[in-house]
Amino acid sequence: MTDGERITAVGPGRVNLIGEHTDSSGGLVLPLAIDLATTVTGTRGGDEVVLVSPDEEHPAVVPLDVADPAAASPGWARYVAGVVAQLRPAEGFVGEVATTLPIGAGLSSSAALEVALALALGFEGSPTDLARITQLAEQQASGVPCGIMDQLASAAGVAGHALLIDCHTLDITPIAVPDDVEIRVIHSGQTRELAGSAYAERTESVAAAEEVLGPLRLLTDPDAADALDDPVLRRRARHVISENERVRAVAAALPAGDLTAVGEALVASHVSLRDDFEVSTPVLDALVDRLNAADGVIGARLTGAGFGGCVVALTEPGALDEGWPVRASAGARLEA
Ligand code: GLA
Repeated sequence: MTDGERITAVGPGRVNLIGEHTDSSGGLVLPLAIDLATTVTGTRGGDEVVLVSPDEEHPAVVPLDVADPAAASPGWARYVAGVVAQLRPAEGFVGEVATTLPIGAGLSSSAALEVALALALGFEGSPTDLARITQLAEQQASGVPCGIMDQLASAAGVAGHALLIDCHTLDITPIAVPDDVEIRVIHSGQTRELAGSAYAERTESVAAAEEVLGPLRLLTDPDAADALDDPVLRRRARHVISENERVRAVAAALPAGDLTAVGEALVASHVSLRDDFEVSTPVLDALVDRLNAADGVIGARLTGAGFGGCVVALTEPGALDEGWPVRASAGARLEA
């Protein structure tokens, strides 16, 4: 890239098929990068990153030596500042951000912006390194101790495939999504107000359970959680252990076309998130129940952090006409 050359970088959003609240303890997740994405276009140069967006009233203007990304304003500039603070690029950038993703709906619009911006600013490295650095940017910007799933799904997506990610080793195994399965994302209409503080609290609970049980990712029997005295920690640990098992089940059943097993695991995942991890809401529960009762729905569950946001539904072709139909897509990239 020479100075002044126009750059276009694309960062897809993600939807998680299964494996919720398992990434922070090094467990298994099965997300996919989707064909709704954020694009950063512009030219490098100067000593600030200046971005405008048709979705935002005010631009993000971030000096290259930004000290405290969480204090950047307006709100979306925090994510820009987080990436700048992690990368410390030699030169700035002037351009615009456009997205086809719904903002703040739980489809990782912030991760999509972070990975696209990092590429636009000149990040060169593996998708895994891109995910690591943008995960740190997200944590710094939001103050939420999020795991690596969102950024890694966006960075490493493979068309037509979900990604089985071992969040301890960061090994990625692409899992083919059968052609006769549709993926839909349906917004509950509830914004995710509590997601930050409750997310941190859940992460702490899982860490406390691990002090007694050891790494939950190494356990396969949810009854191992019964060794915990505290009933809340017991439920949290039961969710994580059982969810890792469900990810294994879906990663085997999906490419084999065993959609009954896939559906059962999705339904069980939602119940576990509702009753054991307690990150669902009555609105999400009602939506999931309605979708799971509909003809042609293989399985539906809340996706992402919970406390509002979206539901993911796997369906037979044409079974639903609500929400966004999404396809498993390639990961973040610079476009010529
Ligand atoms: C958010 C976090 C992810 C992951 C999910 C829950 O999306 O950013 O790291 O923990 O919640 O599975």
